[in-house]
Amino acid sequence: LPDGLALTPPMGFNNWNSTGCAIDEKMIRDTADRIADSGLKEAGYEYVNVDDCWAAEKRDPATGRLTAHPERFPSGIKALADYVHARGLKFGIYTSAGTLTCARTMPGALDHEETDAQTFADWGVDYLKYDNCNNQGRPALERYTKMRDALKRTGRPIVYSLCEWGENKPWEWGADVGHLWRTTGDINDSWSSMLNLFKANAPLAGHAGPGRWNDPDMLEVGNGGMTATEYRSHFGLWSMMAAPLLIGTDLRKASPETFDILGNKDVIAVDQDRLGVQARVLRSAGGHWVLAKPLANGDVAVALFNETGTTATFGTTAKELGLPERTGYVLRDLWQHRDTETAGTVSAAVPAHGTAMFRISADADWWQAPPAADAALLTDA
Ligand code: DGJ
Repeated sequence: LPDGLALTPPMGFNNWNSTGCAIDEKMIRDTADRIADSGLKEAGYEYVNVDDCWAAEKRDPATGRLTAHPERFPSGIKALADYVHARGLKFGIYTSAGTLTCARTMPGALDHEETDAQTFADWGVDYLKYDNCNNQGRPALERYTKMRDALKRTGRPIVYSLCEWGENKPWEWGADVGHLWRTTGDINDSWSSMLNLFKANAPLAGHAGPGRWNDPDMLEVGNGGMTATEYRSHFGLWSMMAAPLLIGTDLRKASPETFDILGNKDVIAVDQDRLGVQARVLRSAGGHWVLAKPLANGDVAVALFNETGTTATFGTTAKELGLPERTGYVLRDLWQHRDTETAGTVSAAVPAHGTAMFRISADADWWQAPPAADAALLTDA
């Protein structure tokens, strides 16, 4: 949506991948505390989002409004949003464009769009994830547009996430309806799932931009089903694809290694670059992927992703990346945080399932000084 929200991909947390429905207000409060005190907030994580199962089974008969689940959220959602806001963070919530949510434990918003949008706005909600279950076979565009309009009428800026699973090609219409749209079914905490979602999302690069992002689903980093190398690939590839970075692990139990991956500021800067271009795949022959993402200052981010089971050395060149010709470039390794110089080659020995990431920089001032010969011509004339 071209309304000034989500100019870079949303960053934050969502409980679903770690807890499913086993959620409560304490977990959300503790997570907000962890984000605020661990450096993750400073790294850019902003939204603390609650997924399915937060509401009571029935609407309030008097008002028709949703109410918080009495055991899981006894203090109510407004109090929880206030708690999150008090830590300088934003608060997100979830419902479905259907009669019930996917877990079927609470009502969805279909035909209650105005009431629910207003309730969310009254509570101080900053982000809505709108799921697709129990949709009664009604057209997606109509259902998702109705909620867009209802949210707009509240007057509150609310990031609007279309959780449509890519069924009706939301990348073709989502830019007018929401700020991001799911391009795939659900992720799970495995290498094969992560790989499949990457492959489905990568070709959609042309549809992404500021305020309109492809969403290959939330992060599994730290949940235990992949190796650290694979989690770095997951995080690195999502950042190259300018995907939303929604932490999906329980931060109360996360290891230092998990915090390290999620807090990598060089990689996050690639995701959050204000040019907002999703990486293009330059090559993928033999499972050796080369991706390139142009950045706002003229640098290019490069990922060398090795899908195969054996270490391989491969790469690209400044020329192939379209960088201006010059004698030397600065090459920053985004995992090692080290700068070296290169004449134009970007290459690495990439471990099985690993991703080497670089930022290649031409001299920022290269275009300001005309080459000597040109300067002479100018003087002669
Ligand atoms: C399906 C969505 O794709 C998931 O991300 C999650 O929100 C579940 N529904 C919740 O039931």
